[in-house]
Amino acid sequence: MYKDLAFDHDDELIDELRDLDYEQGDDSLFDSDYRDLNFDDYSMDEPDIILDVPYVPTDEKIVHAMLDLAEVTSQDTLYDLGCGDGRIVVAAALERNTRGVGIDMDPMRITEAIEYAGHTGVEYLVNFFEGDLLEADFSQATVVTLYLLDLVNVQLRPRLLDELRPGTRIVSHAFDMGDWKPDQRQSCGSINIYKWIVPAKVAGTWQWQTSSGETYRVELKQKYQQLSGKAWIDGEEAQLKNALIKGDLLLIRDQWALLCAAKDESWLLLKASYRRHRRLKSSKTNNLVAICNSPMLA
Ligand SMILES: C[S@@+](CC[C@H](N)C(=O)[O-])C[C@H]1O[C@@H](n2cnc3c(N)ncnc32)[C@H](O)[C@@H]1O
Repeated sequence: MYKDLAFDHDDELIDELRDLDYEQGDDSLFDSDYRDLNFDDYSMDEPDIILDVPYVPTDEKIVHAMLDLAEVTSQDTLYDLGCGDGRIVVAAALERNTRGVGIDMDPMRITEAIEYAGHTGVEYLVNFFEGDLLEADFSQATVVTLYLLDLVNVQLRPRLLDELRPGTRIVSHAFDMGDWKPDQRQSCGSINIYKWIVPAKVAGTWQWQTSSGETYRVELKQKYQQLSGKAWIDGEEAQLKNALIKGDLLLIRDQWALLCAAKDESWLLLKASYRRHRRLKSSKTNNLVAICNSPMLA
Protein backbone atom coordinates (compact mmCIF):
# COMPACT_ATOMS: atom_id res chain seq x y z
CA MET A 1 0.00 0.00 0.00
CA TYR A 2 2.82 2.34 0.82
CA LYS A 3 5.05 3.25 -2.02
CA ASP A 4 8.58 2.03 -2.13
CA LEU A 5 10.45 5.11 -1.22
CA ALA A 6 14.03 6.05 -1.78
CA PHE A 7 15.77 8.58 0.41
CA ASP A 8 18.82 9.92 -1.17
CA HIS A 9 18.96 13.59 -0.59
CA ASP A 10 19.41 14.84 2.98
CA ASP A 11 22.61 16.82 2.76
CA GLU A 12 21.91 17.86 -0.79
CA LEU A 13 18.65 19.47 0.23
CA ILE A 14 20.11 21.37 3.13
CA ASP A 15 22.70 22.69 0.72
CA GLU A 16 19.93 23.46 -1.71
CA LEU A 17 18.17 25.71 0.78
CA ARG A 18 21.45 27.34 1.69
CA ASP A 19 22.56 27.77 -1.90
CA LEU A 20 19.24 28.53 -3.48
CA ASP A 21 19.78 30.97 -6.30
CA TYR A 22 16.57 32.66 -5.46
CA GLU A 23 15.07 35.07 -7.92
CA GLN A 24 12.59 37.29 -6.21
CA GLY A 25 11.81 40.83 -5.17
CA ASP A 26 13.39 42.94 -2.47
CA ASP A 27 11.52 41.15 0.28
CA SER A 28 13.99 38.26 0.33
CA LEU A 29 16.19 38.18 3.38
CA PHE A 30 18.76 36.41 1.33
CA ASP A 31 21.70 38.29 -0.04
CA SER A 32 25.07 37.32 -1.27
CA ASP A 33 26.42 37.26 2.30
CA TYR A 34 23.87 34.89 3.80
CA ARG A 35 26.18 31.91 3.48
CA ASP A 36 28.39 33.47 6.15
CA LEU A 37 25.53 33.65 8.60
CA ASN A 38 24.61 31.02 11.12
CA PHE A 39 20.93 30.11 10.70
CA ASP A 40 20.53 30.55 14.45
CA ASP A 41 21.59 34.17 14.28
CA TYR A 42 19.65 34.94 11.19
CA SER A 43 17.11 37.69 10.83
CA MET A 44 17.79 40.82 8.87
CA ASP A 45 14.53 42.64 9.57
CA GLU A 46 14.50 41.91 13.28
CA PRO A 47 18.08 41.40 14.46
CA ASP A 48 16.91 40.32 17.95
CA ILE A 49 14.91 37.40 16.61
CA ILE A 50 16.57 34.03 16.47
CA LEU A 51 14.99 32.10 13.63
CA ASP A 52 15.32 28.35 13.29
CA VAL A 53 15.09 28.65 9.52
CA PRO A 54 15.87 31.63 7.28
CA TYR A 55 13.22 33.15 5.07
CA VAL A 56 13.09 31.63 1.61
CA PRO A 57 9.64 31.78 0.02
CA THR A 58 8.27 28.77 -1.80
CA ASP A 59 8.10 29.15 -5.55
CA GLU A 60 4.54 29.45 -6.90
CA LYS A 61 4.77 26.19 -8.86
CA ILE A 62 5.82 24.32 -5.71
CA VAL A 63 3.01 25.97 -3.71
CA HIS A 64 0.49 24.47 -6.14
CA ALA A 65 2.20 21.10 -6.13
CA MET A 66 2.09 21.09 -2.30
CA LEU A 67 -1.62 21.92 -2.25
CA ASP A 68 -2.28 19.20 -4.84
CA LEU A 69 -0.22 16.61 -2.97
CA ALA A 70 -2.07 17.42 0.27
CA GLU A 71 -5.39 17.25 -1.64
CA VAL A 72 -6.47 20.47 0.02
CA THR A 73 -10.18 21.30 -0.19
CA SER A 74 -12.58 23.86 1.22
CA GLN A 75 -13.23 21.45 4.09
CA ASP A 76 -9.68 21.78 5.35
CA THR A 77 -7.96 24.02 7.83
CA LEU A 78 -4.43 24.57 6.63
CA TYR A 79 -1.59 25.68 8.93
CA ASP A 80 1.69 26.88 7.47
CA LEU A 81 4.30 26.70 10.23
CA GLY A 82 6.84 29.39 9.43
CA CYS A 83 4.49 31.03 6.95
CA GLY A 84 6.77 33.75 5.58
CA ASP A 85 4.70 36.18 3.50
CA GLY A 86 1.68 33.88 3.75
CA ARG A 87 1.71 32.71 0.14
CA ILE A 88 0.74 29.07 0.84
CA VAL A 89 -2.13 30.01 3.16
CA VAL A 90 -3.36 32.72 0.76
CA ALA A 91 -3.11 30.44 -2.30
CA ALA A 92 -5.19 27.77 -0.56
CA ALA A 93 -7.80 30.37 0.44
CA LEU A 94 -7.91 31.98 -3.01
CA GLU A 95 -7.96 28.86 -5.12
CA ARG A 96 -9.65 26.32 -2.86
CA ASN A 97 -11.64 28.40 -0.42
CA THR A 98 -9.66 26.84 2.42
CA ARG A 99 -9.43 28.33 5.90
CA GLY A 100 -5.86 28.88 6.90
CA VAL A 101 -3.54 29.97 9.65
CA GLY A 102 0.02 31.14 9.23
CA ILE A 103 2.50 31.37 12.09
CA ASP A 104 5.86 33.07 11.82
CA MET A 105 8.32 34.35 14.36
CA ASP A 106 9.31 37.33 12.25
CA PRO A 107 6.81 40.20 12.68
CA MET A 108 7.83 41.62 9.31
CA ARG A 109 6.63 38.42 7.63
CA ILE A 110 3.34 38.53 9.52
CA THR A 111 2.76 42.14 8.45
CA GLU A 112 3.43 41.14 4.84
CA ALA A 113 1.12 38.13 5.11
CA ILE A 114 -1.75 40.21 6.53
CA GLU A 115 -1.29 42.79 3.78
CA TYR A 116 -1.18 40.09 1.13
CA ALA A 117 -4.38 38.51 2.43
CA GLY A 118 -6.02 41.96 2.39
CA HIS A 119 -4.92 42.69 -1.20
CA THR A 120 -6.20 39.36 -2.43
CA GLY A 121 -9.49 39.66 -0.51
CA VAL A 122 -9.18 36.47 1.51
CA GLU A 123 -8.72 38.02 4.95
CA TYR A 124 -12.06 36.52 6.07
CA LEU A 125 -10.61 33.02 5.56
CA VAL A 126 -7.15 33.40 7.02
CA ASN A 127 -5.32 34.40 10.18
CA PHE A 128 -1.67 35.16 10.70
CA PHE A 129 0.03 35.08 14.08
CA GLU A 130 3.44 36.00 15.28
CA GLY A 131 4.81 33.10 17.28
CA ASP A 132 7.26 30.25 17.60
CA LEU A 133 6.20 27.30 15.46
CA LEU A 134 7.83 24.94 17.96
CA GLU A 135 5.40 26.11 20.64
CA ALA A 136 2.31 27.22 18.73
CA ASP A 137 -0.99 25.34 18.95
CA PHE A 138 -1.66 23.76 15.54
CA SER A 139 -3.94 20.98 16.77
CA GLN A 140 -6.90 22.24 14.72
CA ALA A 141 -5.09 21.73 11.41
CA THR A 142 -6.24 19.13 8.92
CA VAL A 143 -3.32 20.05 6.64
CA VAL A 144 0.09 21.29 7.77
CA THR A 145 2.60 22.76 5.34
CA LEU A 146 6.29 23.09 6.11
CA TYR A 147 9.29 24.62 4.46
CA LEU A 148 11.77 24.37 7.26
CA LEU A 149 14.84 22.16 7.62
CA ASP A 150 14.95 18.43 8.25
CA LEU A 151 16.32 18.99 11.76
CA VAL A 152 13.44 21.34 12.57
CA ASN A 153 10.95 18.84 11.09
CA VAL A 154 12.41 16.15 13.35
CA GLN A 155 12.14 18.48 16.34
CA LEU A 156 8.50 19.10 15.45
CA ARG A 157 7.73 15.42 14.76
CA PRO A 158 6.57 14.29 18.24
CA ARG A 159 4.08 17.15 18.40
CA LEU A 160 2.81 16.49 14.88
CA LEU A 161 2.21 12.85 15.81
CA ASP A 162 0.66 13.54 19.21
CA GLU A 163 -1.35 16.70 18.65
CA LEU A 164 -2.73 16.38 15.13
CA ARG A 165 -5.76 14.23 14.49
CA PRO A 166 -5.24 10.95 12.65
CA GLY A 167 -5.68 11.54 8.95
CA THR A 168 -4.16 15.03 9.00
CA ARG A 169 -1.88 15.51 6.01
CA ILE A 170 1.55 17.07 6.39
CA VAL A 171 3.37 18.28 3.31
CA SER A 172 6.96 19.44 3.40
CA HIS A 173 8.84 21.33 0.76
CA ALA A 174 12.31 19.80 0.28
CA PHE A 175 12.88 18.37 3.76
CA ASP A 176 11.94 15.02 5.20
CA MET A 177 11.23 13.87 8.75
CA GLY A 178 14.11 11.59 9.80
CA ASP A 179 13.00 7.99 10.27
CA TRP A 180 9.30 8.79 9.81
CA LYS A 181 9.18 7.81 6.16
CA PRO A 182 6.71 9.75 4.03
CA ASP A 183 3.59 8.10 2.63
CA GLN A 184 4.31 9.82 -0.66
CA ARG A 185 7.11 11.70 -2.32
CA GLN A 186 6.85 13.76 -5.46
CA SER A 187 9.50 15.45 -7.54
CA CYS A 188 8.99 18.93 -8.92
CA GLY A 189 11.98 19.39 -11.15
CA SER A 190 14.94 19.07 -8.83
CA ILE A 191 12.88 19.63 -5.69
CA ASN A 192 11.17 16.88 -3.70
CA ILE A 193 8.00 17.40 -1.76
CA TYR A 194 6.89 14.91 0.88
CA LYS A 195 3.55 13.91 2.32
CA TRP A 196 2.77 12.14 5.58
CA ILE A 197 -0.62 11.14 6.90
CA VAL A 198 -0.79 11.28 10.68
CA PRO A 199 -1.45 7.70 11.80
CA ALA A 200 -3.88 6.78 14.54
CA LYS A 201 -2.25 5.11 17.53
CA VAL A 202 -3.28 1.49 17.29
CA ALA A 203 -0.58 -0.39 19.20
CA GLY A 204 -2.03 -2.79 21.74
CA THR A 205 -4.41 -5.71 21.78
CA TRP A 206 -7.50 -5.80 19.63
CA GLN A 207 -10.16 -8.40 20.24
CA TRP A 208 -13.51 -8.87 18.57
CA GLN A 209 -16.05 -11.49 17.75
CA THR A 210 -17.47 -12.15 14.31
CA SER A 211 -21.18 -12.68 13.79
CA SER A 212 -20.41 -16.35 13.22
CA GLY A 213 -18.91 -16.58 16.70
CA GLU A 214 -15.15 -16.65 16.08
CA THR A 215 -12.97 -14.62 18.40
CA TYR A 216 -10.17 -12.68 16.79
CA ARG A 217 -7.29 -11.30 18.81
CA VAL A 218 -4.57 -9.17 17.28
CA GLU A 219 -1.56 -7.75 19.09
CA LEU A 220 -0.03 -4.83 17.28
CA LYS A 221 3.25 -2.96 17.61
CA GLN A 222 3.54 0.35 15.83
CA LYS A 223 6.29 2.57 14.49
CA TYR A 224 4.69 5.58 12.84
CA GLN A 225 2.42 4.13 10.11
CA GLN A 226 4.19 0.75 10.11
CA LEU A 227 2.65 -2.08 12.10
CA SER A 228 3.75 -5.55 13.06
CA GLY A 229 2.21 -8.11 15.37
CA LYS A 230 0.50 -11.41 15.93
CA ALA A 231 -3.03 -12.71 15.45
CA TRP A 232 -5.13 -15.50 16.97
CA ILE A 233 -8.45 -16.94 15.84
CA ASP A 234 -10.31 -18.77 18.62
CA GLY A 235 -7.04 -18.97 20.55
CA GLU A 236 -5.15 -20.57 17.69
CA GLU A 237 -2.26 -18.58 16.27
CA ALA A 238 -3.04 -17.28 12.80
CA GLN A 239 -0.73 -15.81 10.25
CA LEU A 240 -0.85 -12.03 10.34
CA LYS A 241 0.10 -11.24 6.77
CA ASN A 242 0.20 -7.52 7.18
CA ALA A 243 -1.30 -4.64 9.05
CA LEU A 244 -1.32 -1.08 7.82
CA ILE A 245 -2.53 2.14 9.28
CA LYS A 246 -3.46 5.01 7.02
CA GLY A 247 -4.75 7.96 8.98
CA ASP A 248 -7.64 6.50 10.99
CA LEU A 249 -8.06 3.47 8.77
CA LEU A 250 -6.55 0.25 10.06
CA LEU A 251 -6.12 -2.67 7.70
CA ILE A 252 -5.29 -6.06 9.15
CA ARG A 253 -4.83 -9.07 6.93
CA ASP A 254 -4.49 -12.60 8.22
CA GLN A 255 -4.42 -15.69 6.05
CA TRP A 256 -8.15 -15.41 5.48
CA ALA A 257 -9.35 -11.94 5.98
CA LEU A 258 -8.89 -8.31 5.28
CA LEU A 259 -10.27 -6.41 8.22
CA CYS A 260 -10.72 -2.68 8.08
CA ALA A 261 -11.39 -0.52 11.10
CA ALA A 262 -12.55 3.01 10.67
CA LYS A 263 -13.89 5.61 13.01
CA ASP A 264 -17.64 5.65 13.24
CA GLU A 265 -18.99 7.92 15.96
CA SER A 266 -17.68 6.56 19.24
CA TRP A 267 -17.51 2.97 18.04
CA LEU A 268 -14.95 1.21 16.02
CA LEU A 269 -16.64 -0.68 13.28
CA LEU A 270 -14.69 -3.49 11.80
CA LYS A 271 -15.75 -4.41 8.39
CA ALA A 272 -14.58 -7.87 7.48
CA SER A 273 -14.55 -8.66 3.85
CA TYR A 274 -13.10 -12.11 3.37
CA ARG A 275 -13.25 -15.60 2.09
CA ARG A 276 -13.41 -17.34 5.41
CA HIS A 277 -13.66 -20.85 4.02
CA ARG A 278 -11.74 -20.78 0.84
CA ARG A 279 -12.22 -24.47 0.17
CA LEU A 280 -15.98 -23.88 0.06
CA LYS A 281 -15.35 -20.95 -2.26
CA SER A 282 -17.72 -18.87 -0.20
CA SER A 283 -17.26 -15.27 0.66
CA LYS A 284 -19.02 -13.05 3.09
CA THR A 285 -18.93 -9.55 4.38
CA ASN A 286 -19.70 -8.82 7.99
CA ASN A 287 -19.93 -5.70 10.05
CA LEU A 288 -18.41 -6.27 13.45
CA VAL A 289 -18.00 -4.20 16.56
CA ALA A 290 -14.50 -4.30 17.92
CA ILE A 291 -13.54 -4.44 21.54
CA CYS A 292 -10.39 -2.46 21.57
CA ASN A 293 -8.06 -1.63 24.43
CA SER A 294 -5.83 0.63 22.39
CA PRO A 295 -6.17 4.41 22.55
CA MET A 296 -7.04 4.44 18.86
CA LEU A 297 -9.30 7.22 17.74
CA ALA A 298 -10.12 8.26 21.27
C1 LIG B 1 11.97 28.83 4.41
S1 LIG B 1 10.83 30.05 4.99
C2 LIG B 1 9.28 29.41 4.43
C3 LIG B 1 8.21 30.48 4.27
C4 LIG B 1 6.86 29.95 3.76
N1 LIG B 1 6.38 28.82 4.54
C5 LIG B 1 6.95 29.52 2.32
O1 LIG B 1 7.02 28.29 2.09
O2 LIG B 1 6.98 30.39 1.44
C6 LIG B 1 10.81 29.68 6.74
C7 LIG B 1 10.03 30.66 7.59
O3 LIG B 1 10.04 30.18 8.92
C8 LIG B 1 10.12 31.29 9.79
N2 LIG B 1 10.65 30.78 11.06
C9 LIG B 1 11.89 30.35 11.33
N3 LIG B 1 11.99 29.89 12.59
C10 LIG B 1 10.75 30.02 13.12
C11 LIG B 1 10.20 29.71 14.39
N4 LIG B 1 10.91 29.15 15.37
N5 LIG B 1 8.88 29.96 14.59
C12 LIG B 1 8.13 30.52 13.61
N6 LIG B 1 8.62 30.84 12.39
C13 LIG B 1 9.90 30.60 12.15
C14 LIG B 1 11.01 32.27 9.09
O4 LIG B 1 10.78 33.60 9.54
C15 LIG B 1 10.58 32.07 7.63
O5 LIG B 1 9.58 32.98 7.28
